[in-house]
Amino acid sequence: MALLETRGLTAHYGDFQALFGVDMTLAKGECVAIIGANGAGKTSLLRSLSGVLQQQPGMVVLDDHPIGALAADDIVALGISMVPEGRRLFPSLSVEENLLIGAYRSRGNGTWDLDAVYGLFPILKERRNSPGNALSGGQQQMVAIGRALMSNPRVLLCDELSLGLAPVIIRDIYKALPEIRKGGASVILVEQDIGQALKVADRVYCMMEGKVTLEGTPADLSRDAIHKAYFGVAA
Ligand SMILES: Nc1ncnc2c1ncn2[C@@H]1O[C@H](COP(=O)(O)OP(=O)(O)OP(=O)(O)O)[C@@H](O)[C@H]1O
Ligand SMILES: [Mg+2]
Repeated sequence: MALLETRGLTAHYGDFQALFGVDMTLAKGECVAIIGANGAGKTSLLRSLSGVLQQQPGMVVLDDHPIGALAADDIVALGISMVPEGRRLFPSLSVEENLLIGAYRSRGNGTWDLDAVYGLFPILKERRNSPGNALSGGQQQMVAIGRALMSNPRVLLCDELSLGLAPVIIRDIYKALPEIRKGGASVILVEQDIGQALKVADRVYCMMEGKVTLEGTPADLSRDAIHKAYFGVAA
């Protein structure tokens, strides 16, 4: 049985429709990557899963419970937490204060607390009193991940972790992924970097124009099939 599932998920911004009947599943323990070009609907999908965009109840199902109509706060309390596109730290708050905000709707007694997050990203402990806006992009991304972990999520949603970061920093960020999975979170990653997605995910979904165009394990998917699903034309 899927831990998290969408069933014919649609999403709108006013009159504009961003998602057209998306069906996806995430099993417990799995890491699923969502790839697709700019505007494909990846962030809209994560916003729907996290309650930022609200839907009909049965369009998002967690552990067999319809959660599509719940607000973001309630969804965090149920165990779905998001690392948003662009990190979105509170710039004047310290690293530690930013992390503690993530514990606000914590499910308690899980792997993650301040010490565990500092163990995952030791540089954050050194910089614990620095304001968010004094950090490098990579450090900000670590705080954004740590903040999401502080609620001890069952499902961690990550939107473009590597965006705007140097390759060596991206490598450092992705080094944390096995530890995060060991801590009990199943993971949905949105990635523009297809190579990165194929390297770390158990399964991949490709989206185009608000629909899933391809789904499979990295070993199943040929370069040509991905290219066609990503751009709509053969390579
Ligand atoms: N707040 C909004 N208001 C109106 N339209 C929006 C809004 N956010 C996204 N859209 C539109 O919805 C569609 C899907 O956008 P979305 O951000 O989900 O794509 P994405 O795959 O995350 O793209 P990117 O790779 O650029 O982050 C796009 O056509 C986009 O212009
Ligand atoms: Mg996006």
